[in-house]
Amino acid sequence: MIPREQFHISGLAGEKALSGTIPIRGAKNAVLPAMAAAPLFADALTYTNLPDIEDVGRMSELIEASGAHVDRQSIRRTTIDPRYINTHALSDDLSKRLRASIILTGPMLARCGRVSFAHPGGCVIGARPIDIFLDGFRKMGARVRRRGERYDIHAPDDGLYAADIFFKLVSVTATETFMMAATRARGTTVLRNAAMEPEIEDLANLLNTCGARIEGAGTPTITIHGRKQPLRARGHTYRAMPDRIEAGSFLILAALAGDDIRITHCNPKHVDILIELLRESGVPIETERSAITISGNRRVRTDTLTPLSIRTHEYPGFPTDLQAPMTVFLTQVNGESVVFETIFENRLNYTQDLITMGADITMWDPHRIMIRGPQTLRGHELDGPDIRAGLAFIIAAAIAKGESLINNTYYIDRGYERIETRLQDIGLDITRVAV
Ligand code: EPZ
Repeated sequence: MIPREQFHISGLAGEKALSGTIPIRGAKNAVLPAMAAAPLFADALTYTNLPDIEDVGRMSELIEASGAHVDRQSIRRTTIDPRYINTHALSDDLSKRLRASIILTGPMLARCGRVSFAHPGGCVIGARPIDIFLDGFRKMGARVRRRGERYDIHAPDDGLYAADIFFKLVSVTATETFMMAATRARGTTVLRNAAMEPEIEDLANLLNTCGARIEGAGTPTITIHGRKQPLRARGHTYRAMPDRIEAGSFLILAALAGDDIRITHCNPKHVDILIELLRESGVPIETERSAITISGNRRVRTDTLTPLSIRTHEYPGFPTDLQAPMTVFLTQVNGESVVFETIFENRLNYTQDLITMGADITMWDPHRIMIRGPQTLRGHELDGPDIRAGLAFIIAAAIAKGESLINNTYYIDRGYERIETRLQDIGLDITRVAV
């Protein structure tokens, strides 16, 4: 049962009053595929720098439900031992709460020769079909059966075949799923029109360290030389890379409400398009190897910042996961901005709540909005519809006049570790209250 809680936020009313240091945690979207790789292994793998977020908890439970031993040694360190996996059936309840559960199907099919699962759940940002996965498994020789909302997939008796798979759409989790399944296929698999997110290169590095032979991760064409033997960690410890979406979200908050803010333990290169756009708008940003700094920002009036045209795009383009926080930023700049959400067909609905707060946003169609700024936002009660819109509502409430209540804290906790504690540390009046 998910506890009913709210975030209570007292808005800064346009003041740039936040100051201090905010550390970035391990990347949710790197850790989830890395954990899903466990069935590919013959031995235990230890994970460190894990973020303490709900989705990591659900993935741990999903893997443990398959029989694997999951030993959580501390809030950031977990060991997964796949030697005890005793079923090919993924838990329906857990799969429905986590879209990333779909990634596990590839490694489970490679290990067990069979996998069954329910259509994955997750954020309501679009239909979230899985046709690309089903087509890919068929190309690797598997038989796919669907009964209602459940799928049952059987690999050939002698194991998955290598294949040449052209993704009709760039898909992050499909790229990860087939990169992993192909490590155990017979022969060489080529993935074309593959996603290039940093998390995919990070996953390939982990798998190659443990015996896989993957070339081209981070480019549109990935070649995987499969082998029958499982991978072996041999004591290797995986350390999660910094979360670029978290870093970008906090950078947008700092641009709007920060005076002197230092974002640490991050990789500025992974958010360089956001940094470029914020600089273009007039935000004073400095970067170092693993930190981003905004200083003396109190003097920069947000209503002198210039409008922007944002088009979400697969990496290295503007991340769809930063689209909602960026829209909040654009409500405060001086002029008309346009946001074009090209990845998901239902990822602009949160704008209705921003309009209720006072934003001037016109929806041209399900993919495009125009934002006129600057507009004062007023505190309100909000229901975050997904992880990233939930964070956008925290940013909107932080700059608004008056008090805000944000429900569905679970959504935000899915992707951000103890968000209220870290924001309190830089001066935001935010508390978590039981309802
Ligand atoms: C990953 O989701 C991320 N999740 C998402 O982050 C992110 O928004 C998305 O990539 C895009 O960057 C994880 O990595 C766990 P897609 P994913 O497959 O892989 C369509 C967050 O908040 N598609 O790249 O599920 C799909 O509908 C989450 O951290 C099909 O049509 O997204 C979308 O339009 C939200 N058929 C497009 O492809 C399929 O079989 C790209 O989606 C699969 C996808």
